[in-house]
Amino acid sequence: MKMSAYKVLVGLLLLGAVLAAPPWNEKRTKWKQIQLLPGDYSDLDFMNQEADILYDHEEEVFSGILEPYENSVLDTYDSDLEEESLDPDAPSVPGLFGPEAKEGLPTCLLCTCLSGSVYCDDTDIKSIPPLPKDTTHFYARFNKLTSLKNGDFAGLNHLKRIDVTGNRITSIDENALRQLPELVDLMIASNELVQLPELPKSIVNIDASYNKLHSNGIKKEAFKDMSNLAFLYLAGNALNYVPVPLPESLRSINLQNNNVQQIDDDTFCNSKDIHYVRKALELIRLDGNPINLSKTPSAYICLPHVPYGKY
Ligand SMILES: *[C@@H]1O[C@H](CO)[C@@H](O)[C@H](O)[C@H]1NC(C)=O
Repeated sequence: MKMSAYKVLVGLLLLGAVLAAPPWNEKRTKWKQIQLLPGDYSDLDFMNQEADILYDHEEEVFSGILEPYENSVLDTYDSDLEEESLDPDAPSVPGLFGPEAKEGLPTCLLCTCLSGSVYCDDTDIKSIPPLPKDTTHFYARFNKLTSLKNGDFAGLNHLKRIDVTGNRITSIDENALRQLPELVDLMIASNELVQLPELPKSIVNIDASYNKLHSNGIKKEAFKDMSNLAFLYLAGNALNYVPVPLPESLRSINLQNNNVQQIDDDTFCNSKDIHYVRKALELIRLDGNPINLSKTPSAYICLPHVPYGKY
């Protein structure tokens, strides 16, 4: 078919569409926008309901809608209309390559972005690149990160996992992680942290093994109100005592190879209530600490299993 024939046809279709089209807001979110360059349209049967084609004379491209879910109508593409948020809860569409990183490279060229996951493992990065707003899982293992800054994860309201294992992180800004409403996993093992920042209450897994944490680097009652916390890995640090009180949700605490020298009846149990049972806490690792666990037999009466360690 010749171009002029297209124009006539498109004009007729457009007229029909204007007459037949339901309100935009009913249809718009259901269509996939496509753009076709001249020559690409040969195998599209745009007279049936599978595809509709519109020729844009200025851009010299065909745009169309594939697989409309209901009646076939032409979509006169209008970027202003597209900007209108029809569903305020709809996830934002990130740029194809994400925001620009400091190095001038878009984050998703420097890293690999796959749906909500951003993988920046082994990329030699020294700072956190700007992340797409819909990031749910962020991996930057084995890099040269030295700190996590307040702005690094700002506004990432769907971020569930941060894995920065195997870097050189010595500090985390106080507000870097605190305001992440959906953070579940913080993996920060094998770094050089001396202090843990405040963490959101949503957290379930913390792995800060093999850092340089002393007990004074963990806030008083830091884990008390983390009612979802299940796994706390703090092996290979320099902790002088068990970070009490531990939340009821806790299922395992790994404290091997620290400097814990004493525990008492209130560390895991409750000296005021002999009927108290801490049934969730299945695993306590205290091996590799300068403590003789035989000396405090009444410290384990509420536990399903006695701790691992020297007896
Ligand atoms: C721990 O203490 C108990 C009782 O005081 C003692 O019998 C045991 O030999 C000690 N164990 C170790 C490994 O020092």
